[in-house]
Amino acid sequence: MNWNDKKVLVTGGASFIGSHLSEQLVRLGAKVRVAENFSSGERKHLENIDCETLEGDLLDPSFCDQATIGVEVVFHLAADHGGRGYIDSHPVECSTNMILDGQVFRHAHKNGAEKIIFASSGCVYPTSAQMDVTKEVFLHEDMVTPPYEADDLYGWAKLMAELSLKAYHQQKGVHTASCRYFTVYGPRCTENHAVMAMIARGYLKLDPFEVWGDGEQIRNWTYVDDIVSGTIAAAENIQDGTSINLGTMERIKVKDCAHQVIDTLNPGATIKLLTDKPTGPLNRVASNALAEELLDWTPRTNFAEGLQKTIDWYVESKTTEQARSDLTRKLVGR
Ligand SMILES: NC(=O)c1ccc[n+]([C@@H]2O[C@H](COP(=O)([O-])OP(=O)(O)OC[C@H]3O[C@@H](n4cnc5c(N)ncnc54)[C@H](O)[C@@H]3O)[C@@H](O)[C@H]2O)c1
Repeated sequence: MNWNDKKVLVTGGASFIGSHLSEQLVRLGAKVRVAENFSSGERKHLENIDCETLEGDLLDPSFCDQATIGVEVVFHLAADHGGRGYIDSHPVECSTNMILDGQVFRHAHKNGAEKIIFASSGCVYPTSAQMDVTKEVFLHEDMVTPPYEADDLYGWAKLMAELSLKAYHQQKGVHTASCRYFTVYGPRCTENHAVMAMIARGYLKLDPFEVWGDGEQIRNWTYVDDIVSGTIAAAENIQDGTSINLGTMERIKVKDCAHQVIDTLNPGATIKLLTDKPTGPLNRVASNALAEELLDWTPRTNFAEGLQKTIDWYVESKTTEQARSDLTRKLVGR
C-alpha cells in the first residue's frame, strides 16, 4: 500500500501505542488525523507529530461523525483501558468500549472509509487455556472460537469488535483487520502496566521491591515498534476481517523481569510477592506463525534490548517526584 497522502484517522492517537503509530504513518507520508478525548492520552505525545488533532469524545455521535469524514483508512485504538488493576476494578468503564467501537465502525462505514484496522488484545483468548504455568502454550488465532471465553468485560468488548469487523467485511465489503496486541511496552508506556510499574519501583529504589502475584506468571512483553510495524503490515495485507496476533514468542516470567529491573536500577533490593493482587491469566504467550505467514512479520526487538531502551527512556524523561505520583495513581487507574 502506498501511504503517501493517504488520509488516515488514528482514534486514541495520543496514547502510548497510538502516538508511535501516528508518528510512523506520518513518516510514511500519510495525512494523519488524530481523534482524542485525552482521558489517558497525553498532548505531549503529539508535540512532534505533524498531524491534525480533533479533540472530543468518540462516544458522542456528532464528534464521531466529524472525525470519520474524509478518511480512507481508520486505525481504531481509542478505548477505555488500563492495566490489570484497572481492568479488574472498572468493568463498567470497559463495557463502554462496546458502544465506542460500534459507533466508530458505524460512522467510518457511513462516511466511506475503505479500511478499518482495530487494536484488539490477547484478552480475547480463553482464560482457561492460560492458567497452567508448567505448560508451554502458544495462543494461536483459531483458539478464539464459540462458545468463547474472553478475559473480563475488557476482553469481551475486544471480541465483540473483532466479530463486528468480520461482519462489516462479509456483509458490507469493508476491508477490515484486527490486531491482537500482547502486553506492549516501550517509551511513553505508563505505570499501569506491570513492566512499567517495575521500572518505576526500581527507579524509586523501593526496597522491598513489590511484585504482584507469585512472580511465576509468564508474559510475552512486546516492544512498541514491533507492534507499530505489525499493525501497518496488517493494514497492508489483510482485508477480510482476519484477526492476527502481534506478540513475541519469548516467554518471560514476571520474577525474571523484576530481577532484570533490580539489577539495572537498584541492585540488592529484595522482592516482596503480593499474592493477593490481581495478576490476570498466568501464562499468556502468542504464536506469531500466522503473522509470519500473512504479513511476513516477526518481532525484531528481544526483551532484554527493549527493556533496556525503556528503562533509559524512563530515567531520562521523569523526575523521581513524577515517577512516585504516577505510580501511585496508575496502579489501579489510567
Ligand atoms: N498497552 C497494551 O499492552 C495493549 C494490549 C492490547 C491492546 N491494547 C489496545 O491498544 C490501544 C492503545 O492502548 P495504549 O496502551 O496505547 O493506551 P490507552 O489505553 O491509554 O489508549 C487509549 C486512548 O484512547 C483515548 N480515548 C479513550 N476513550 C476515548 C473516547 N471516548 N474518545 C476519544 N478518545 C478516547 C485515550 O485518551 C487514549 O489516548 C487500546 O485500544 C488498547 O485497548 C493495548
